Amino acid sequence: MNIKIKKILKKKNKSKIICLTSYSKNISEILDKHTDIILVGDSLGSVLYSFDTTKKVSLNMIIEHSKSVRQGVKKSLMVVDMPFNTYRNKREALINAKKIIKYSKADAVKLEGGKKIIDIVKYLKKNKINVMGHLGILPQSHKGKFRYKGKTSLERKNILADAILLQKNGVFSIVLECIETTLAKEITKQLKIPTIGIGSSVNCDGQVLVTDDLIGLNLTSIKFVKSFYDIRKHIGIATKKFKDEVKKQKYPSSKFSY
Ligand code: KIV
Repeated sequence: MNIKIKKILKKKNKSKIICLTSYSKNISEILDKHTDIILVGDSLGSVLYSFDTTKKVSLNMIIEHSKSVRQGVKKSLMVVDMPFNTYRNKREALINAKKIIKYSKADAVKLEGGKKIIDIVKYLKKNKINVMGHLGILPQSHKGKFRYKGKTSLERKNILADAILLQKNGVFSIVLECIETTLAKEITKQLKIPTIGIGSSVNCDGQVLVTDDLIGLNLTSIKFVKSFYDIRKHIGIATKKFKDEVKKQKYPSSKFSY
């Protein structure tokens, strides 16, 4: 088994798993000192490209960003999202997962869904591809208004069953997105593999956030997003200093000129 995955598994019930998204080398370098998992999420579609849906992210886009991220990741486990329409059947999934791993040297891929994609998960595992699961809100297939998951007893039963099925078929961890607190707790308790929550309470084995949200670069009003810093303010300060020095012909001084 991949040694970094082994380390992640060992953290279950011991210490919280830290996961953040990255789309580039410089950000990965900074995150890597603090994270256990770095995820090249297809959230890059909305965060970087202003797409109205992650469905518009292509395989090529995720591969190019993953190649950049790879250069900044040393100790963390690197996971890459398989974009929409790149795993419609098991053969397509294997070809594309292999491409992602070949070009980015990622440790694992992440797929959205439970029972519906179980044959694909099984096939990837059979072909030695490490897979992370993703349940709850599934942005690649989500339709209509945003609503957290686990409101009805049928929905709760299905999500728990999906989590158990994914574990049985070899995923090493599952992202739980916007799952009601007590259901996230129950899933986490029942599984031997770690759950990574996003909007799913403190009861998960770890937490993931979109880094651009974490640092206050991406402005969003989603309930679960906490901005831990105001990077916009600091970019603004640097920009203003640059502008002032250029206007006063202080920059570039002889130190910065040839
Ligand atoms: O695409 C993404 O960044 C994700 C995380 C938010 C879990 O899937």
